[in-house]
Amino acid sequence: MEILLGQVLRYAGDPMVEGPGAARHDRHGAVAIEAGRIVDLGPAEAVLARFPQARRTDLGARLISAGFVDAHVHYPQTAIIASWGKRLIDWLNTYTFPEEMRFADPAYAAEIASRYLDLALAHGTTSMCSYATIHSSSVDAFMGEAARRGMRALAGRTCMDRDTAPAGLRDSAQAAYDESKSLLTRWHGRDRLGYVITPRFSPTSTPDQLLALGSLWAEHPECLMQTHLSEQVDEIAWVKSLYPAARDYLDTYETFGLLGENGVYGHAIHLEPREIARLREVGAGLAHCPTSNSFIGSGLFDTAGLSAAGLRIGLATDTGGGSSFSMLRTMAAAYEIGQLRRGALHPAALWYLATLGAAQVLRIDHAVGNIAVGMEADLIAVDLASTPAIAQRAERAGDVWEALFPTIMMGDDRAIAGVWVAGRRMK
Ligand code: GUN
Ligand code: ZN
Repeated sequence: MEILLGQVLRYAGDPMVEGPGAARHDRHGAVAIEAGRIVDLGPAEAVLARFPQARRTDLGARLISAGFVDAHVHYPQTAIIASWGKRLIDWLNTYTFPEEMRFADPAYAAEIASRYLDLALAHGTTSMCSYATIHSSSVDAFMGEAARRGMRALAGRTCMDRDTAPAGLRDSAQAAYDESKSLLTRWHGRDRLGYVITPRFSPTSTPDQLLALGSLWAEHPECLMQTHLSEQVDEIAWVKSLYPAARDYLDTYETFGLLGENGVYGHAIHLEPREIARLREVGAGLAHCPTSNSFIGSGLFDTAGLSAAGLRIGLATDTGGGSSFSMLRTMAAAYEIGQLRRGALHPAALWYLATLGAAQVLRIDHAVGNIAVGMEADLIAVDLASTPAIAQRAERAGDVWEALFPTIMMGDDRAIAGVWVAGRRMK
């Protein structure tokens, strides 16, 4: 057994709904880990008294939290992050699709999967839900590398069969069904992994392919389904021209069985009232990708409004449309976009969206995203004075939120002093 000593931050409720009082903070706290799980927590003195023989790791004033959970990422876009000057459709055609073609080579897929997971862990992200490419071996590469690190990770084969996607990245309705099913059988529930049914978005699939993946989901409702929704105004107009009978963008999924409570819809910026009502009615999850939404010029997601409307929201990098691997940087972008909409998101809410909120959207909140007895020990230790600029501001802090907020706004991987995956130290 190992006992981590430091400040401890965890959640007893949802601060988006209940306010910052939903968070629990112990200035001198402890988390006890055994066999990859959290077995005890509380004030340091009490935990140490219960387990006097345990090995101790004293993290001083560092903040122990659940590891970050990234609700939507494209690991194959790792090497093209920060590509200049395009909006969504041009960005896909110019940078993304050519890079995804390279994943026909399984060795390249393995190299990038490994690079991505190392970067994610260095930034404190211990779980994520990733798109792969059309190549089934790109899923195998990601799952294999995640399993080697012992991570709880989710991914799926990104299906496209329409001539809006380049020939090298297209399959068919039947191939999408068959390959996705075979990957699902191979990976879902193995180790800590989950398979995610993944039609990229309705403009790159035929109705036949959406229908085929909708029936696969009906056969496997235990799996997540992820896709993109209402990201950019030009994209929405494109969807309307390709699906003239659809009531709105969401309807292109709903019609083919791709709307449900285990659905994760990325971006969801320019939603119609009917779409918001349906998403809420079925209990679907949204992935908020704030750095991407600014970087590609997509728009301002309404975190406060959609949360108040009863939608589940998780934070996401959307690397490499997103401009950072850091969930800290992503929280900062969410804060800034919040300010441009309805107002300030509290640090307790930002942290929640990047941990337990994202875990709930991914349906892994029974296992990760919080610190509680019985949960898996995916943890980070955050240095709240990781740079001189952050340190001098944090020094003035009157409470934990004021101490944490400079790290949210200005922090990066230098703030991540320790990372544990299933109790094993990775950084
Ligand atoms: N819409 C369809 N594919 C993508 C993608 O790879 N990134 C982003 N940001 N939006 C998309
Ligand atoms: Zn995406």
